[in-house]
Amino acid sequence: MSLDGLTLAMVHEMSRRSGTELTARHYELIEFTHRYHERHRVGPLLPNLRRHTATTHEELESLFPFGLHSLYTWVGVPIQSPHHGCKPLVTIDVEHPREVYMDHSATTELRPEVLDCMRPLLEGDQSFGNPGSSTHLGRMAFEAVDTARAQLAGALGVRSDELVFTGSGSEANNLAIKGLLLPRLRSGVHAITTAIEHSSVLEPLRWLASLGLELTELPCDRNGLVSADDVRAAVRPNTALVSVMAANNEIGTVNPIAEIGEVCRAAEVPFMVDAVQAFGKLSLSPRENGISLLSLSGHKLHGPKGVGALFIDGSLELAPLLHGGGQERGLRAGTENVASIAGMGVAAKLSSIEREHETVRLAKLRDALLAQLLRVEPELVVNGSLEHRLPHNLSVGFEGVDSGSLLLSLNAIGVYVSAGSACHAGAAEDSHVIRALGLDTRRYGVLRFTLGRRNDEEDVGYVADHLGEILNALRGEDRRLSA
Ligand SMILES: Cc1ncc(COP(=O)(O)O)c(C=O)c1O
Repeated sequence: MSLDGLTLAMVHEMSRRSGTELTARHYELIEFTHRYHERHRVGPLLPNLRRHTATTHEELESLFPFGLHSLYTWVGVPIQSPHHGCKPLVTIDVEHPREVYMDHSATTELRPEVLDCMRPLLEGDQSFGNPGSSTHLGRMAFEAVDTARAQLAGALGVRSDELVFTGSGSEANNLAIKGLLLPRLRSGVHAITTAIEHSSVLEPLRWLASLGLELTELPCDRNGLVSADDVRAAVRPNTALVSVMAANNEIGTVNPIAEIGEVCRAAEVPFMVDAVQAFGKLSLSPRENGISLLSLSGHKLHGPKGVGALFIDGSLELAPLLHGGGQERGLRAGTENVASIAGMGVAAKLSSIEREHETVRLAKLRDALLAQLLRVEPELVVNGSLEHRLPHNLSVGFEGVDSGSLLLSLNAIGVYVSAGSACHAGAAEDSHVIRALGLDTRRYGVLRFTLGRRNDEEDVGYVADHLGEILNALRGEDRRLSA
């Protein structure tokens, strides 16, 4: 077998997700595709695949969930597909290449201060205690977790005992939703959310809806904003939860959280806010804004991955997702991830201290990026409100190009961004957020730039300088392929 370990693992994961049982013929086709792509990078893959493996369109459709498209994307080949829209990348010559990371809403690098705090908790024989043990080692570990809880509580202006550490932002969202609604499901409850929430909010709610929850999914307006009036109008006597994200992860739009909180307070309905993207960028006082549940994630704040937290207003009662040893006040069993929790505490403290200064700097840089992109592409479309928006986010649409191709072409010159669609298990999926905005994603390729601590004006110039050439090359390639 000629597949490297990583590609093989990817193929297995994709086949598992799509329920495809892999046969020798699957492997033969996958290996040829992988080998050919490794050798030629960009080229007429399909005719060669046909010639060398004697495959047909019908065979590919019968073997892979999305036929040719799955075959290519499973081994990491960006492709031209008439049906599913993932197209090839272009490579341009760059005189002075540099690495520009503008994908901070996807994840962030560890800050040195965070690493400094985590390191002693990970190495040596004085730092491995179990926080649940009353020995000296245990007490040291407990203290590390306790300090992080106090740091997070300080940053949010809540009590330490209102915070539960989890294994991710997704888990915090799941705990809030299932922990609150599952025990009440039998009494026939209703929940309100929005069409632009993160999947870790939408999916648990839709799963509960399959078990009997009444669920209202509110739309956003053309600016990507949710309306407090819509929330008010949707509240019913049996509404048990309103869940609206503080800021959207794709388009960065900032919802009127204080107003929605007021609606929830008046209706006496618990208000949950996914603040994974907003923390460190907006002031988020749960007390002032009528928020009863608020979720956070470490790796969006220059903290570690695999740690999150949920604020739970003292008056709310939740059931745990994980039962066991009674950690985290019985709400999240499992020995605590001490080093990561400590890292998240430091990251949260630093980002709240630096928030005011850093958000002004980021907004200026983002505006400069937009101004320069507009010079390159005057027709570009900005997705979502510019006024009610996270300071570091710029989501834009380019007419007549594929977002996957743009993403990969930029990546080929060292630029990291996100696209408005992703090829999952072989199908190019439109983003539900971009769809909710009403943008025609067959016409526009969407890119999300999210700036961060280390970005500067030179990074902005580098992206703007080369994007025009990439757009021209992609449009030329498109014309060539369709000729
Ligand atoms: C808005 C939002 N909520 C939740 C999450 C999930 O966080 P985590 O990656 O820690 O599971 C993300 C991650 O991208 C997000 O953007």
